[in-house]
Amino acid sequence: MRDTLRRTLALGTGIVAVLAAFAGHATAAPPPPDAGTPTPMVVGGTQAAKGEFPWMVRLSMGCGGAMLTEQLVLTAAHCVSRTGNNTSITATYGVVDLQDTSRVTRTSTYVHRSPTYDTATGGDWAIIKLGSPITGAALLPIATTAAYNTGVFTVAGWGATREGGGQSRYLLKANVDYIDDTTCKNSDPYYADLIPAAELCAGKLAGGVDTCQGDSGGPMFRRDNNGAWVQVGIVSHGNGCARPDNPGVYTEVSTFAAAINQAAANLGGTPQPPGKVFENLDDVAIPDAGVAVYSNVTVTGVTGNAPSTLKVGVDIKHSYSGDLVIDLVAPDGSTYRLKSSSSSSTPNVVTTYTVNASSEVANGTWRLKVQDVYSQDTGYVDAWRLTF
Ligand code: ARG
Repeated sequence: MRDTLRRTLALGTGIVAVLAAFAGHATAAPPPPDAGTPTPMVVGGTQAAKGEFPWMVRLSMGCGGAMLTEQLVLTAAHCVSRTGNNTSITATYGVVDLQDTSRVTRTSTYVHRSPTYDTATGGDWAIIKLGSPITGAALLPIATTAAYNTGVFTVAGWGATREGGGQSRYLLKANVDYIDDTTCKNSDPYYADLIPAAELCAGKLAGGVDTCQGDSGGPMFRRDNNGAWVQVGIVSHGNGCARPDNPGVYTEVSTFAAAINQAAANLGGTPQPPGKVFENLDDVAIPDAGVAVYSNVTVTGVTGNAPSTLKVGVDIKHSYSGDLVIDLVAPDGSTYRLKSSSSSSTPNVVTTYTVNASSEVANGTWRLKVQDVYSQDTGYVDAWRLTF
């Protein structure tokens, strides 16, 4: 067993490895969109797995966004017209396939557009208030310091899969590199008026991988030093898509974090800070109609009790999810049922459960208990994680 506080994986190839571990075996993935073109997806990306980036939102005006609170979506200012009441936007949450009938939708009631957008200060960000909260929604915390404005970032969206191309039905993802302001400014005349404090460049100088039209407003994110995803950018603009020496330009979220948090508070929400992630990436086979198997995660360095909203991310590959009974076992042996058996023939369990574990001391060894209670199908625990 290897219990990893993700600290050790947060840099360099760790991000790629972690993504692969969580999304690697997409047995039920639909065919890639635009499959006939040489560079499909975001541009140069691949399909995201359902549950992989659970806070992603598609907005009906053709933009992306990320859940900032259960009722607020962070997007780009250039995706909205102005601050004020607005009931014209539909937000779609909880799916990678926009036609998946399990999608959750909400209609907007209000838009707050950054007051410094289109000024010399810059600030291509906006917050959309939904008509009602998406209770239990996964949230993407924003970076409040510049410390994470470096390294490898992940981008995701339903935007064009090549410059001038159509939108994607499926959520696509790609990794892009941080590009410093000087390199970015000098990369092409288009970037000469970059606003260094307000904009963050990322992409591949060789070309081929980038966000594109329709990805705007969506998040650019990476792991922080505790293994949690944090949003460092908002898809803003670029010269074409995925051209060599033409990076993507992203709103520098850390610069505007205080303003975003203030605006959220005024709209009745409190964005959550990033948590501490503890995970186990080792595969554990699940015997057919057999004994329960366990995968351990040891939590250290967390003060006091677990939260009432303990997040339990589960990635189980199995040919018949209804066969599975899944429990979380606290260090003292208390058991929390995450999932009962059912008749569902859907493969795999890739999701995040929220557990009220406030009566449990956080530190200690937590176990994921998985049992296959019906015959014929098998699988394995691919990974699981606790976020405190
Ligand atoms: N402004 C575009 C939109 O509305 C985003 C373009 C991003 N371009 C890029 N090359 N990264 O979707």
